Amino acid sequence: MTAIVSLPITSWDQPISSANQTLAIEALEAGNVVLLPQLPFVVREDERPLLESNVIQGIKNVSLAPANGTFKGSKGTEAEQRQLQAMMMRFAASTKSLANNLLSPYEEGLQQARASFRPVEIAGRPTSWRKDDTRLHVDNFPSSPTLGKRILRVFSNINPQNQPRVWRLGEPFETVAQRYLASLPKPLWGASKIMNALGITKSPRSAYDHYMLRLHDHMKADQDYQTQPSHQEQLFAAGTTWMVFTDQVSHAAMSGQFVLEQTFLLPVEYMQHPAQAPLRVLERLTGRGLV
Ligand code: SIN
Ligand code: FE
Repeated sequence: MTAIVSLPITSWDQPISSANQTLAIEALEAGNVVLLPQLPFVVREDERPLLESNVIQGIKNVSLAPANGTFKGSKGTEAEQRQLQAMMMRFAASTKSLANNLLSPYEEGLQQARASFRPVEIAGRPTSWRKDDTRLHVDNFPSSPTLGKRILRVFSNINPQNQPRVWRLGEPFETVAQRYLASLPKPLWGASKIMNALGITKSPRSAYDHYMLRLHDHMKADQDYQTQPSHQEQLFAAGTTWMVFTDQVSHAAMSGQFVLEQTFLLPVEYMQHPAQAPLRVLERLTGRGLV
């Protein structure tokens, strides 16, 4: 069972007690979800039309690189796009400040990666099985190898009609890894250099990234696994924020519309319990170094 650890945080910018910080870090590293039910990301009145208009019609994902403002994927007029970009920049800044306040032991190591806005209804959306996030999976990036860095994601449900975002949660990482490891193909010698030379990846794919991608695919393709009744349904209400290491926690998003998401990367050595990192678990199970 994945625990949902609720904390009474009400501000993105205020210092947070060390007791609550410890609760959050222990929960996250153990593969649980930290829920902040009293921390909405507030969409301003003048921004409300962005959730209606053709800026987002039919779009799965609008992305923002907070470091340089690079903004991709939206439609609409120039003015609407600038407004959405500014709203996402505000979200990125808010999550950065929250991360520094709630997870201060990570501060030196935490790297802010891309933010995304996901404006389509997930339920019934046509997509390939590999991209189908209604199937349980762990996250990783096909073209941007993490080399073992953790993927920590902060989500805010900004649904204006009060619809929850509905997830399913699966087993602990080690249980999932043990289920599939023997059936995952081994990395091919030379393949990572070739993929990198061809521009398929932005840097050479490590054995760790190879195993994580294959694990993601095998989980999604396994109908038996997907339909196990033991998986837990979890509703995230509109107006709430939650965070989770999505490289570790088996998750699927079943329904809901309008979520903002910010990704952070964290090198394993900044964790309080590095042995719980997927990298260290897979190294233990395979008996070899993977990066
Ligand atoms: C996912 O990371 O698989 C999807 C999460 C979401 O959009 O709610
Ligand atoms: Fe995911």
